Amino acid sequence: MQLIDGKRIAQEVHAETRVAVEALKAQGITPGLAVVLVGDDPASRAYVRSKDKMSKELGIYSVKHELPEETTQEALVALVHQLNADPAIHGILVQSPPPAHIDEAAVVAAIDPRKDVDGFHPVNVAKLALDDPTGFVPCTPLGCQRLLLASGIDPAGKHAVILGRSMIVGKPLALLLMAKGKGGDATVTVVHSRSRNLPELTRQADILIAAIGRPGFVTAEHVREGAVVIDVGINRVEDPANAKGYRIVGDVAFEEVAPKCSALTPVPGGVGPMTIAMLMANTVKACRQITGG
Ligand code: GUN
Repeated sequence: MQLIDGKRIAQEVHAETRVAVEALKAQGITPGLAVVLVGDDPASRAYVRSKDKMSKELGIYSVKHELPEETTQEALVALVHQLNADPAIHGILVQSPPPAHIDEAAVVAAIDPRKDVDGFHPVNVAKLALDDPTGFVPCTPLGCQRLLLASGIDPAGKHAVILGRSMIVGKPLALLLMAKGKGGDATVTVVHSRSRNLPELTRQADILIAAIGRPGFVTAEHVREGAVVIDVGINRVEDPANAKGYRIVGDVAFEEVAPKCSALTPVPGGVGPMTIAMLMANTVKACRQITGG
């Protein structure tokens, strides 16, 4: 069984990004990323902090806006408009999910699609569906695809079964893996919590991607002998034995699934580091497209 090392592959992506950032800086251009967090969800805070830290490590100009839980829709949209107009900012990310009183779709729609490094804006969703390479593809699906390619697993002709249909992972990943060309050309099935005979469907996968957000949901009965399994889940489960009181587990019951797989991503250290790496890469892409650098 090949354990796919997301940290190592993310380092490869970061090395490419560093080179691209240096090349832009040599032209007097510094890529800039703004990360916006509303509220104080601990997991979201941790993500925002690591995105900010990684930007700085790569030489990207990074600004972090941490807004209180009670921030209004109007104030949030006003900040987005301000960032749209800021020439030092090429990428804008509003951490999801926002508090319940925020209309997330309206906030995303307010982002200049050229700065939408998350790939959540309707223009970028459409560009992905239309195979337009100027669009932005969501970072987690992009990271999954890169993990596969870097591990010598070409999706072409294979049956990829995606468990989960979210706007952030399942849906865009389906489009990405079925697209024509490198990293695509797969036969794609999307299944979810309401699918009938779920284990029967997931057992058909050459490549099974678990993005359902339920700890340990994928068990040995879901996996065919020799399948590649990509675990997108990042779930906090209580663990009194851990100093933090919790630990992070994936959507895959690792111990029982590992012996059946030809390759498997760990959690943590699999898809997680890739998401950040692709965000940095998308920020450089946005900067190049906006500045012509
Ligand atoms: N929440 C979970 N994943 C993501 C992501 O990729 N981007 C944003 N903005 N929020 C998220």
